[in-house]
Amino acid sequence: MNSFVEKVNFFGNTNAEELAKKYGTPLYVYNENILRDRMHKVSQVITKYPYTANYSVKANTNIHILKLAHEEGLNCDAMSEGEIRMLEAAGFEYDRIFFVPNNVSDEEMKYAIDRNIMTSLDSLAQLRRYGKLNKGGKCAVRINPGVGAGHHEKVVTGGKKTKFGISEEDIDEIFEIAKEYNLTIAGINQHIGSLFMKPDPYLEAVSNLLRIAKRFKNLEFIDFGGGYGIPYHKLDDEAEYDIEDFKKRLEPILDEFVKDYGYAPLFKSEPGRFCVAEGSVLLGRVYATKTNAGKEYAGTDIGMNVLVRPSMYDSWHDAEIIRDGKVVKRENLKEITICGNICESGDLLCKERPVPDIKEEDIVCLLDTGAYGYSMCSNYNSRPRPAEVLITKAGEDKVIRKRETYEDLLRHM
Ligand code: LLP
Repeated sequence: MNSFVEKVNFFGNTNAEELAKKYGTPLYVYNENILRDRMHKVSQVITKYPYTANYSVKANTNIHILKLAHEEGLNCDAMSEGEIRMLEAAGFEYDRIFFVPNNVSDEEMKYAIDRNIMTSLDSLAQLRRYGKLNKGGKCAVRINPGVGAGHHEKVVTGGKKTKFGISEEDIDEIFEIAKEYNLTIAGINQHIGSLFMKPDPYLEAVSNLLRIAKRFKNLEFIDFGGGYGIPYHKLDDEAEYDIEDFKKRLEPILDEFVKDYGYAPLFKSEPGRFCVAEGSVLLGRVYATKTNAGKEYAGTDIGMNVLVRPSMYDSWHDAEIIRDGKVVKRENLKEITICGNICESGDLLCKERPVPDIKEEDIVCLLDTGAYGYSMCSNYNSRPRPAEVLITKAGEDKVIRKRETYEDLLRHM
C-alpha cells in the first residue's frame, strides 16, 4: 500500500500540513471512525455466551477516547488508582471497571473497595492484604497462565519468567486465604502478553485457564486477557489479526467448558492495543538532514519522550513522508534513519528505513501510535508533552488535549 492515511482519509476535511501549522508538532492525531470500528470489533469476539470486552486503558487514557469506549459499550480494566480516576472522569460507572493492579498499597486498594470496584489480586500477599481490608468481600485472582506471548520479552506477562499472577501450584493457598477472610472469589483472570498475530498461544492459554477454572466453584466471570495484535507493517500489506477465525476457534473451547461447568459465567477479554493503536498517527517536523559516516539521518521533533516504543522495544512503526500536505510516493527509496531531538543515541524512530528522500520541513507521519504512545510520554530533556487532536466522524479536527507549556514543567517545583 502506498499510503494508509490516504486510503482511509485519516485527516478528514483537513490535511497533515494544516494540522501541523495549526497545532504545532509533534502532534498525536486520532481518527474517531477507526477507533470506534476497532472497539466495536472486539466487542464481538464472543457472541454465543455472555461476554464483555474490557478496554485496557493503559494503552491510552485520554478521557475523550475513554468516552468513545463508553459509547461503544465497552467495559474497562484499570491498573492503578490514576486509571480509575480517568475512567470516573470519562463517566464510567463503577460496575463497568475492573481493577487489575500489581503490588499496590492499602490506600490504593481501599480506593477501589470504597467504590465497590471489582478487583483482581495478583499474588497471595496482595490477596491477604485485600482480605484484611475487605473481610467478607468479593474479589478475583489473577492466575499465571503458564504460557506467554508477545512482541518483545519485556511485554510477555505469562509463563515462568514474569512477575505476574499466581501460579497454579498456589491455588490451594488462595482457598485458604479466602476462607480466613471470608472472601468470595467471584472471578479469575489472566493475560499472556501483548501483541500476537496468530491466536494459538492465546487459545492454549484459554483452554488452560478453563481447566483451572473448574477448581473454583460458582465463578461469576472468567477473563482471558488481551494481547490481540495489529498490523504494524501495513505499508507492506501485513494482514490484520483475524478476529473471525479467532472467534471460530474459540467457540468450541467455550462450548466444552460450559457443558462441563454447568453454566456459562460471564466471559471477558482485555484488549488495549487493538482498540486504539491504528486510530492514531503521530506527526513530526523534519528540522535537519545529514550524513554521518556514510549513513543518512532525518532529524525530527519526535523524540523518544514522545514515542518511546522504538527505543524501548525496537518496535516498528511505518512512516509516511508528507510534503506540502501530500504523501510522497513510495518510490526511489533510500535508507534513512529517522530520529528525534533527545540527547540519547538510542533516540531513533526508524533505523535505516527504506523511505522516499526526506527534505527539511517535510512531515514524518508515524502510523499506529494510538496505543502506548501518549500514555508512555515523558518530559525527558524538559520537553513539554505534545497535544492530541481528534478527527471526528464529521471530519473535523478537535483538540482533545492541549500541548503542555513550560509553566507546566515548573508547576510542581
Ligand atoms: N491486561 C493486562 C493485565 C495487561 O497487563 C495488558 C498489557 C493488557 C490487558 C492489554 O494488552 P494489549 O491488548 O494492549 O496487548 N507498552 C507495551 C505493551 C505493554 C502491555 C502491558 N500490559 C508496548 O508498547 O508494546
